[in-house]
Amino acid sequence: MAQSKKSVLFICLGNICRSPIAEAVFAKLVKDAGKQNEWNIDSGAIGNWHVGKGPDRRAISVLTKHSISTSHKARQIKSRDFSEFDYIFGMDEDNMDDLKSMAPTNSKAKIELLGTYDPQGELIIRDPYYDNGEEGFEKCYQQCMRCCAAFLERMG
Ligand code: 4NP
Repeated sequence: MAQSKKSVLFICLGNICRSPIAEAVFAKLVKDAGKQNEWNIDSGAIGNWHVGKGPDRRAISVLTKHSISTSHKARQIKSRDFSEFDYIFGMDEDNMDDLKSMAPTNSKAKIELLGTYDPQGELIIRDPYYDNGEEGFEKCYQQCMRCCAAFLERMG
């Protein structure tokens, strides 16, 4: 009998910068490994400000530069996510505080900082939204790539 899929939800404050980058990077790694049938991958926001919108143009630009595409539209996290996903990753401590206070007592999901998987030990994926240029987005991409690759390897 086919095993049920593994699942991961990437969360940040607005779901237009960091978490859609992480989602797209992880989806690319999974696809390149030929494992797309084994995973449910999504991203979401703590807040509802950008629901329905595509990622920030700088996030799309950085992904495009690395030959990765995304069609994600922002959505807000909902309580069902805590019972449907195996892993929910926050980007910073504010996300973690919010996720822990939202999580129902019967939450199935393991809630972790994505940065705990970084082989270079950089724990926090900083919010680049208020930056002027793309530099913070490139750094976010690099962190997401390191963490997602290590997570996928860990998950087999
Ligand atoms: P993100 O960045 O959490 O990485 O998507 C942000 C995007 C928008 C806002 C904050 C952070 N905002 O306040 O609108």
